[in-house]
Amino acid sequence: MEWLTQISPMRAFSARARRAAQRVGLVPTMGALHEGHLSLVRRARDQCDLVVVSIFVNPTQFGPTEDYRRYPRNAEQDVKVLGPLGVDAVFAPEAGDVYPPGFDTWVEPGPEAEPMEGESRPGHFRGVATVVLKLLNIVQPHAAYFGQKDYQQMVVVRRMVSDLNLEIDIVVGPIVREKDGLALSSRNVCLKGEDRKAARVLSCSLKKAETLAASGERDAEKIVAEMKKIFAAEPRAQLDYAEIVDSESLQSVKQLGPGSVALVAARVGPTRLIDNTILEIT
Ligand code: PAJ
Repeated sequence: MEWLTQISPMRAFSARARRAAQRVGLVPTMGALHEGHLSLVRRARDQCDLVVVSIFVNPTQFGPTEDYRRYPRNAEQDVKVLGPLGVDAVFAPEAGDVYPPGFDTWVEPGPEAEPMEGESRPGHFRGVATVVLKLLNIVQPHAAYFGQKDYQQMVVVRRMVSDLNLEIDIVVGPIVREKDGLALSSRNVCLKGEDRKAARVLSCSLKKAETLAASGERDAEKIVAEMKKIFAAEPRAQLDYAEIVDSESLQSVKQLGPGSVALVAARVGPTRLIDNTILEIT
């Protein structure tokens, strides 16, 4: 496995792959890897000749009061878990190389970036879209792998790839969860003691939404009210939003339709968590 920290050797790696007509898959991450990331790596391994994992804690997607400095970093462990998966290269650039002095060109995502995370984290998706475009331009993959876990991010990236005519397949993997339902996240290591148990409230509220949808409830407002009740019963969790939206536009819906998505964000102790589920309608 090659460990590349500079942009030009990364470009050279991809140029060689392309000359050899090898399909390159990129899994963009911010490191502190867990099974959610690894599920995307395995899928890339199955579908591509060469797999590149990028590890870069992107400063431009964190707000000034957010946890950029406290974000978990564990490069040694990341290398250990990637080795056995047959990853060909890890691209782990320095922030100063990705954003050299004078850098000032940004990707301004469309309306999908406005609600939910966009409202709670102004500028977040501008930072995400910009760094993802930079990574795609540097690594030049044929396919890039994203998790449904960050549903809104996946929609923003898909739209950017389509709007900016990038010839890259965006492949989306399902959410990997702990046994009790908590969605895996690099931030879960920050959940201490009782907060870890309380964090189940996110997936519990989504389960409730799934159950109601499966039993025929179509009134989104009623389902959201039930989801909120579950948060109200957990004093350690502070709900940021609970929404049911259209899967493409991410606008709130009144009535559940095919592919409506329920999304939640909450702070549990000092840790902000997000989760979602696609509501099946039979
Ligand atoms: P990060 O949070 O490290 O996540 C990297 C990828 O792993 C994302 O596509 C995310 O959706 C996916 N992922 C995270 N938890 C998952 C889980 N429990 N199950 C399945 N997939 C999961 O998302 C980012 O980094 C950054 O915003 C990035 C795209 C790298 C841009 O900086």
